[in-house]
Amino acid sequence: MPLHVLKHPLADHVMTHLRDKTTKPALFRTLSYQISLLLALEATRDLATEEKPIETPLEPFAGRVLAKPLAIVPILRAGLGMVQPFLDVFPDTSVGYVGLERDHTTAIARSYYCKLPPLDGKRVLVVDPMLATGGSAVQAIGVVKAAGAKEIVFVCIVSSPEGVAALQAAHPEVPIHTGAVDRTLNDRKYILPGLGDFGDRLYGT
Ligand code: PRP
Ligand code: URA
Repeated sequence: MPLHVLKHPLADHVMTHLRDKTTKPALFRTLSYQISLLLALEATRDLATEEKPIETPLEPFAGRVLAKPLAIVPILRAGLGMVQPFLDVFPDTSVGYVGLERDHTTAIARSYYCKLPPLDGKRVLVVDPMLATGGSAVQAIGVVKAAGAKEIVFVCIVSSPEGVAALQAAHPEVPIHTGAVDRTLNDRKYILPGLGDFGDRLYGT
């Protein structure tokens, strides 16, 4: 499935300040909100709508409304920083949580939490700011598929070519929306140039 890379002057501006090592958590959270809002609009550009005839105060109008409910599933913990902008533009979205944490030496993700709403019949947006080796995203999408999700989109802020390839190999039907595709991973499986550890920068840990 296609890889969509965000193209917008505001995205360039926000991504540069997110990457800047001098950006402190308060501003980092604001920038995460802004880039996630842009990604939310891009990742939902193809949502189906259905007819809804209404009356304006002056005459009948053939309106259209969203045809399918949405669910958002952040991968804890860093994915939490992407949830609010999605809920602000799609307030009726249900939220599920998949908790995964990479081991610091192996970079393999370990599952520690999962709570999901009914997902069948919904557009399910799995969100995580960083797609590095792809291990966390591959695992999380496996979990939402097992829970009944059939229409899944993955949304991240920064990705690596290695992570994109791993995700496309494991879940080829899942479109990926990303703010940027960076150069590579370092030997500790961090994205280069990247922005460091997103969760630590978001929460000041
Ligand atoms: C980070 C990030 C992704 C994962 C990406 O989370 O938020 O979930 O690493 O790496 P991968 O593609 O190699 O799996 P981390 O495990 O550090 O946990 P955190 O969100 O609690 O900080
Ligand atoms: N997780 C992060 O937060 N940053 C990376 O570069 C890779 C994984």
